[in-house]
Amino acid sequence: MSQSNDTIRKTLIVAVLLSLVFSIVVSAAAVTLRPAQQHNELLNLRSNMLQAAGLLSPDASDEEIEELFSEFEVHLVEMGTGELVSPDRVKADSAEDYDHRRAARNPELSRELDDDPAGINRMVKYNKAYVLRDDDDSIKRIVLPVHGYGLWSTMYGFLALEGDGNTVAGLGFFEHGETPGLGGEIDNPRWIAQWPGKKIYDEDGDFKEPRIKLVQGGADSDSEDYQHKLDGLSGATLTARGVERTINFWLGDRAFAQFLDKARAGEI
Ligand SMILES: Cc1cc2nc3c(=O)[nH]c(=O)nc-3n(C[C@H](O)[C@H](O)[C@H](O)COP(=O)(O)O)c2cc1C
Repeated sequence: MSQSNDTIRKTLIVAVLLSLVFSIVVSAAAVTLRPAQQHNELLNLRSNMLQAAGLLSPDASDEEIEELFSEFEVHLVEMGTGELVSPDRVKADSAEDYDHRRAARNPELSRELDDDPAGINRMVKYNKAYVLRDDDDSIKRIVLPVHGYGLWSTMYGFLALEGDGNTVAGLGFFEHGETPGLGGEIDNPRWIAQWPGKKIYDEDGDFKEPRIKLVQGGADSDSEDYQHKLDGLSGATLTARGVERTINFWLGDRAFAQFLDKARAGEI
C-alpha cells in the first residue's frame, strides 16, 4: 500500500532540501559574480573621476574609460604634509587599491575630528590624488576626491584642478542623498558648468586658505572675489553650504593644500 506524501516529516525534508539547494545557488552566484562586480565598481569610480576632470562624456565606452584612465598617475598623499607615501604604508597593493572610505573607519588610518566643517566625523591620514601630465611632463590636471555632509547625506565627489593647482577644471558628485530638484541640483549640468575657471585660492596669497563661496542668487560678475563665487542653489542653501565647506576643507591645510604647493613647485 502506498504511503501518503502529505506528512509533516516529508514536507520538512522537501523544505530543507529546497533551502539547501537555493542557498548553494545564491552563494555560488555571489562568489562568481564578485570579481565582475568589483571590476564594474572600479570602472564606475574611474569614469566619475574622468567626468569630473571634464575629460569624458557620460556615454563613453569601457575601453575609452580604461584608455584615458591609464594616462593618469595615482598617488597616495599624506594629509596635512603633502608627502607622497608608498601603498605599503596603508597595506595596499597599489595607491589605486586604497579605499579612503574604509580607511575612515580604521583608527590606524584615520582620526576623529573636533573641528569638522565638512561634517565628515573622521579624517583619513592619507588620500589619493590623480595626476595627468602634458607631453613636456608638466602637470595638466590634478583630480582630488572630496566628501562632506549636505543636508541629508554625505556627498562624495571629485574636484579637478588645472596644473596651476588653483584653477578649477571641474567638479562632480557621484553619490549623495540630497533631494532631487533641491540639493540634488548639484548634479545639474548647468550648475556644474559654472565651476571650471573658478579659483580656489587668492593668487597673491600663500595658497593655504581656500576661498570658495556659494552665494544666494548667484554672483554678479562685477562683484568682489567673483573668481571664487558660485551660485548658492536657491531653496537648497544647506546643501550649498555643505558643498562650500567640503571644497574649502579638502583644499585646506589639513588636507591637500601642501600637496598642491608641491605640485606648483614641480616636486610631484
Ligand atoms: C522635503 C524637503 C526636502 C528638502 N531638501 C533639501 C535639500 O536637499 N537641500 C537643501 O539645502 N534644502 C532642502 N530643503 C529645504 C531646507 O529645509 C531649507 O529650507 C533650505 O535649505 C533653505 O534654503 P533657502 O534659504 O535657499 O530657501 C528641503 C525641504 C523639504 C521640505
